[in-house]
Amino acid sequence: MEKRVFLKNMALLSGFASLKSPVNTMEELLVYAKEKNSEDLAVDEAYWAKYRKLYRLKSEYINLESGYYNILPEEILEQYIKHIREVNLQGAYYMRTAQIANREKATSLVAELMGCSVKELTLTRNTTESLDMIIGGYPWKSGDEAVMAQQDYPAMLDMFKMVAKRYGVKNNVVSLPLDPASDDELVALYANAITPKTKLLLISHVVNISGQVMPVKKICQMAHEKGVEVMVDGAHAVAQLIYTLPELGCDYYGASLHKWLAVPLGVGMLYVKKEKIAKIWPLIAETEFPDEEFDIKRLSHLGTHPVHAHLAISSSIEFYKKMGPENKLARLRYLQNYWTSRVRNIAGVLMNTPKDPARNCAIANVGIKGISAPDLAKKLLDQYGIYTVAIDNSNVHGCRITANVFTSTAELDVLVKAIKEMAAA
Ligand SMILES: Cc1ncc(COP(=O)(O)O)c(C=O)c1O
Repeated sequence: MEKRVFLKNMALLSGFASLKSPVNTMEELLVYAKEKNSEDLAVDEAYWAKYRKLYRLKSEYINLESGYYNILPEEILEQYIKHIREVNLQGAYYMRTAQIANREKATSLVAELMGCSVKELTLTRNTTESLDMIIGGYPWKSGDEAVMAQQDYPAMLDMFKMVAKRYGVKNNVVSLPLDPASDDELVALYANAITPKTKLLLISHVVNISGQVMPVKKICQMAHEKGVEVMVDGAHAVAQLIYTLPELGCDYYGASLHKWLAVPLGVGMLYVKKEKIAKIWPLIAETEFPDEEFDIKRLSHLGTHPVHAHLAISSSIEFYKKMGPENKLARLRYLQNYWTSRVRNIAGVLMNTPKDPARNCAIANVGIKGISAPDLAKKLLDQYGIYTVAIDNSNVHGCRITANVFTSTAELDVLVKAIKEMAAA
């Protein structure tokens, strides 16, 4: 990034940073937030300026790539560091004693958050592990079929390609429209790809490359009526959207807790509906359990793993609950709409995210006519000091922009200016 760009950004953002509000803990913010509803709070820049101080942020660039993972607020980070120290102090003693009960405690907190039974949920390392365990461990027979979208996450699509080779499964791949007219359009798209041989359908709760929010519940209902099971990729949905798993009605659900829940890196979850547990072959074999067939523990073996990250789950969930899921959701929607509404109708700007607020949230994707996605990402960083990610995948060509709760509207103004200038050039 050019030095002049860095200095310009600092000047632009300095007014925001210098708001006189020496607040450093969530507790202090709570008192203020309590008196406001989510909609009022979403536009209250003074509040979010204080909130931003809960994080330590790089000043060299504007981070608009929270889609990869969420950095931790300082208070969660400090808790996490304490856990690392404690586990290191106790060593194998910890691993052979408290580890097991602590993992169970952490698992029940996640199950409570997701509104499901602890008997149906296990901690994994990430979404990839969770969903690939289902795809790879499904009892496929030659001739079975599966349905998925081009816009689903590549690791899952690759695993489906592997099972196609290994077992003779046929994959029917749909392509999601960038701006669907209705839920019915999406439900029909998937319904038309189902045949009497279809066993499993994958949907992304939030499509990672475009930010499109999918009508999961309706697709589950349709698929179940046809006798097809549904596996949902919830990588971006946990602690971004508000829902419970029973509400969605899916059979399998995988997510990464290091994304929007801001759990330290390397923690995910897998939900399997109780009656489906027995049919899935585990990735790593577990010792037998008395009620083995329907015990999620048969899918839970991890080997030695960073257990201190599990200990931080309670801090992350507590932080999320304190800030208020509605407050977070309203602010994320506001931020995304703040910049997209300022550029959506400009000639040369290509929006790759649905306009309907029911179909979008924090993430949106923008392209510019005549500029490739990698070039756009490079220009944003080099010329404007904005870090994003280039997406060049199926029908999505542009940069994924992911604002987070610590993102300021002043930072988004830099983005809007950049898009306008590049579209006009
Ligand atoms: C929709 C979606 N699914 C799965 C993943 C994979 O997540 P992880 O690398 O944490 O397994 C991602 C990562 O960005 C994603 O966006």
